[in-house]
Amino acid sequence: MLPTSVKIVEVGPRDGLQNEKGVVPLDAKVALVEQLADAGCAVIETGSFVSPKWVPQMADSTAVFQQIKRSPKVSYAALTPNLRGLEAAIEAKADEVAIFGAASESFSQKNINCSIAESLQRFLPVIELAQKQNIPVRGYVSCVLGCPYEGDIAPQKVAEVSQQLLDMGCYEVSLGDTIGVGTPIKTQQMLEAVLEKIPADKLAVHFHDTYGQALANILVALQQGISVVDSAVSGLGGCPYAKGASGNVATEDLVYMLNGMNIKTGIDLNKLTAAGLTMMQVLGRQSNSKVALALNAQGQ
Ligand code: HMG
Ligand code: MG
Repeated sequence: MLPTSVKIVEVGPRDGLQNEKGVVPLDAKVALVEQLADAGCAVIETGSFVSPKWVPQMADSTAVFQQIKRSPKVSYAALTPNLRGLEAAIEAKADEVAIFGAASESFSQKNINCSIAESLQRFLPVIELAQKQNIPVRGYVSCVLGCPYEGDIAPQKVAEVSQQLLDMGCYEVSLGDTIGVGTPIKTQQMLEAVLEKIPADKLAVHFHDTYGQALANILVALQQGISVVDSAVSGLGGCPYAKGASGNVATEDLVYMLNGMNIKTGIDLNKLTAAGLTMMQVLGRQSNSKVALALNAQGQ
């Protein structure tokens, strides 16, 4: 059974722009977030309160949060790897935050400089303080279908870390194919292992589209009852600590697919496409979204 509506978590301003080589001007980031809100995106990952030494592209997240005109319909989210990040997110009035772990030990070390077990310990006080402030916490598990350092990842490990994040108090866990290596049957097997422990309504999927498999994998996830999907406008994105990882699945392509399946998203495809094309002009290259290119070619 397919869901009748899907909640899209737009991660372009964070996952998308964290991987840009050049500096993206602050006003362009602010304009992107505002245009995405106007297009109907209900959750926008707006920034990341991580170490600027590790991810300099996100160093101006406080300013982005301060400068955006907010819509009451939108939840503006931020990544917070530790208490310091959460304190900055609270100061910036983020509506929700996300902690990010991994199903791969090596990736955990490279990305957040600690083991999986240490990361979970580090997240405990983050969740505790966020709960005191009534800020919902989302959990990410990276490398669910493969790791740039370890190769294959056992689905049971994905299930185990996801369960731990939920037990600690995350309201939802987003399963990340960080390097976009997953294919549909592998996705199905991984999800089956996770769904043995966790109900579908606590799960989201987050596919990078490195090998062009993201939409096919998302369809499998929808068929398994998952109805929250992360994506980035224009297919921006990638993780600086996952070599070879390219952008997230493009939100335009996802919305087009869901529209064609009569699954509601609340997003206006034309406005979304315009938001992405404006950012691509700033970045000086073509969109990674086939749908955006097709609509643009038709002058829409
Ligand atoms: P560390 O070096 O182990 O920790 O980094 P530290 O406590 O020693 O801090 C190092 C420096 O950063 C210190 O500065 C701290 O003050 C500072 P110094 O004393 O050297 O001048 N610092 C901070 N500054 C600002 N905000 C903070 C903060 N924390 C420490 N919150 C740490 C550990 C977690 C901080 C670091 O490894 C880090 O920031 N990592 C972030 C990596 C990252 O953002 N990766 C990309 C996001 S994850 C992703 O893209 C995957 C995802 O999309 C899902 C998927 O695709 O699978 C979510
Ligand atoms: Mg990602």
